[in-house]
Amino acid sequence: MTSVTFQVWRGSKGEGQFAKYTTDISEGMVVLDAIHKIQAEQANDLAVRWNCKAGKCGSCSAEINGMPRLMCMTRMNELPTEKPVVVEPMKSFPHVRDLVTDVSWNFEVKKKIKKFKPRAPDNADGSWRVFQEDVDRVQEFRKCIECFLCQDVCHVLREHRLHQEFIGPRFLSTSRRSRCIRLTSRIVSKNSRRQKASATATSRNAAPRSARRASRLRTTRLFRLRKES
Ligand code: SF4
Ligand code: FES
Repeated sequence: MTSVTFQVWRGSKGEGQFAKYTTDISEGMVVLDAIHKIQAEQANDLAVRWNCKAGKCGSCSAEINGMPRLMCMTRMNELPTEKPVVVEPMKSFPHVRDLVTDVSWNFEVKKKIKKFKPRAPDNADGSWRVFQEDVDRVQEFRKCIECFLCQDVCHVLREHRLHQEFIGPRFLSTSRRSRCIRLTSRIVSKNSRRQKASATATSRNAAPRSARRASRLRTTRLFRLRKES
């Protein structure tokens, strides 16, 4: 057990000050555990948002020693404990109370982003043909847990407060995802046309061997994406 001092922001609607708490930390604890311990033993009214404690829900975002972090994924043994550990709410969003901010602006922004509309299915059974590498690329943008820490450190939002003019990095990736899918659709349509032309030529035995081989290779890289019902 080590005794660690925390400076936790207390107050509501942007007004407040740091309060000092000292608590015992045992092996394996994360910052969220320490905050819960402080809440249980010293400050029952301390407001903190969390849900999964597994880095999946994005609820426990805060600024720890001035860095944007998930409290549940910040291990105490990674932090210097000889001086107080500073825990503050995110600064880019309206403050509600203690460590809780109102992130609802992000959900409003999300609603305004044009939804992806798939092109007409490529096949009679209602499925599409898509490159696996393009599926992987789009998947990357789907890993966001909506912690909004990237929005918190975006200077356009944080310093200039231009929430009405700029959607922030989190939603640039959302719109990029749609663009990626649209681009993929166009590439696949083009390749489908090429394949059809190549198939016709092959049937007439007119395509050179190298073109037939390239066409076969393209086909093996395609897979079927079932139409969502
Ligand atoms: S993209 Fe932004 S909101 Fe999404 S997980 Fe990463 S930091 Fe959090
Ligand atoms: S509690 Fe869910 S990400 Fe931290």
